[in-house]
Amino acid sequence: MDDQNSKPFDSNVTSGKNKPFWITNEPSLKFEKLNQNAVTEVLVIGGGIAGLTTAYCLLKAGKKVILVEDGYLGSGETGRTTAHITCALDDRYYNLEKLFGRAKTTLIANSHMAAIQWIENTILHENIECNYKRVNGYLFLSATDKKGSIEKEFESTKNVGLITKMLNYVPDMKSEEGEWSIEFPDQGQFHIMKYLKGLSGAIIKMGGKIYTETRAEDISSTGIKANGFEIKANDIVVATNTPINDWVTMHTKQWPYRTYVIGAKIPKGTLSYSLWWDTGDMESKWISEPYHYVRVEPFDEKYDVLISGGEDHKVGQAEAEDIAEEERYLRLAKWTKKRFPEMGEIEYKWSGQVLEPIDSLAFIGKNPGNDNIYIVTGDSGNGMTHGTLGGIIISDLITGRDNPWAAIYDPSRITLKTTGDYLHEAGNMTAQYVDWISDGDIKQAENLKPGQGAIISSGLKKIAVYKDENNEIHACSGVCPHLGGVLHWNDDEKSFDCPVHGSRFTADGKVINGPAISDLKKIDIHHEINVK
Ligand SMILES: Cc1cc2nc3c(=O)[nH]c(=O)nc-3n(C[C@H](O)[C@H](O)[C@H](O)COP(=O)(O)OP(=O)(O)OC[C@H]3O[C@@H](n4cnc5c(N)ncnc54)[C@H](O)[C@@H]3O)c2cc1C
Ligand code: FES
Repeated sequence: MDDQNSKPFDSNVTSGKNKPFWITNEPSLKFEKLNQNAVTEVLVIGGGIAGLTTAYCLLKAGKKVILVEDGYLGSGETGRTTAHITCALDDRYYNLEKLFGRAKTTLIANSHMAAIQWIENTILHENIECNYKRVNGYLFLSATDKKGSIEKEFESTKNVGLITKMLNYVPDMKSEEGEWSIEFPDQGQFHIMKYLKGLSGAIIKMGGKIYTETRAEDISSTGIKANGFEIKANDIVVATNTPINDWVTMHTKQWPYRTYVIGAKIPKGTLSYSLWWDTGDMESKWISEPYHYVRVEPFDEKYDVLISGGEDHKVGQAEAEDIAEEERYLRLAKWTKKRFPEMGEIEYKWSGQVLEPIDSLAFIGKNPGNDNIYIVTGDSGNGMTHGTLGGIIISDLITGRDNPWAAIYDPSRITLKTTGDYLHEAGNMTAQYVDWISDGDIKQAENLKPGQGAIISSGLKKIAVYKDENNEIHACSGVCPHLGGVLHWNDDEKSFDCPVHGSRFTADGKVINGPAISDLKKIDIHHEINVK
């Protein structure tokens, strides 16, 4: 594996130390920084798939649009995705049928199929070269799951009108457990950064404005401040993955998880271009039932890249499960090699963050309590289609068009039933505050190795300490500026992560994931504790 351990990472490029395959081989999508006041009809905050799709749809509908992005385009979770474009939803149709009933679940299935079609139409219309393909997807029975569960899912996909097939094998995959799978035809895959490049080009062509390295602050119903300037807007769309305009409400309806990915070359033609997912580890003693997801991306004339993901855990809680981040890559590599033995050496590895909503569906629409501020969040492991639906639905809401899915995804929907994890998840969130009374990771900052960070305690204070390559110590508050969670050091991505709602910070305290909106306060460590 590539050891990318030496220097701090550039959070304008991506939100962690490890560089995803998509970013390693593509130039950054940089635009000018905001350098004057501006007025627009719609302001979109966030340059991932949700923000760019929203800006594109609104421009198509004749609106004047400005988009601002804190880093470069794709520097959030979109650049760290695996880009399966699918209607095979993570939380299973039989669960959705229980939560929403058959009629609504049929609409949900339709919405994801429509999102795949929208992506295809846009790629064709805008001539976007992004390796887009229609492919089959295979949901296969995991070793720890029972055949009844895949049969239930098959029946449910039929109930909601999907054209699926039950197979007694898993195409292209070698595994003793791989006997049963559901085939989902007409799914999709693409190279995400090439797709974002195409979308942003189309936005500029239609007269939209994009500013990068422009962090939105002081979000109100009239606009934002950024880089010392103001943007005034009639409508504001917060497409920052997790909302940064709302302090509490939305963050009690979704939970942040980290998920891991490896990439290895494989001789071209060994595997068909397909998507594979297992039904999840039913014996996992942790809150999630982590599953694996695999696909193949073209590389050059001789090779493809096999991209395999999984081994999820709650943000900031890798160690609490007794499986350190690095070990998760090893487990993932072992699992993948067993099923796809032709894969070569692992050349890429990275992790990223997903938000699991309380009732499995993304939150898309008006932010609760606001008339002209909209959000797209909670997109789970289905952010390619949920992010695309975000653009379609919000542009319809802003332009006053009817949309068949708006009510289903409304962030203010009342959730009477949940996936069953709610009490567990809420309890886990509260339990994170116990760290206030425990010792920090290590007692003394000088025990750190170069490139390592930790939370240390000084009296009742928690300090986030990082020793850089020159043995210099950087110290910031170890307390999350959102709602006071005690941060955890993520040694794999070299960040301080909050286990409560998933905010993340670079080793020197710059905020890289909300809901926190401010950097960590710097601390003069020499005054706090005795550091040589
Ligand atoms: C490892 C991994 C694998 C995945 N695989 C799949 C998959 O196969 N299929 C699938 O459908 N989904 C997948 N997902 C989920 C999907 O990638 C995400 O849900 C989706 O990319 C999120 O897009 P977004 O636009 O909402 O957020 P982001 O891409 O995170 O965009 C939000 C942007 O807002 C910016 N921002 C934040 N605060 C501010 C501010 N104050 N001012 C300006 N800008 C700001 C950030 O810099 C960021 O670029 C995966 C996710 C991960 C992590
Ligand atoms: S993200 Fe909410 S307390 Fe840290």
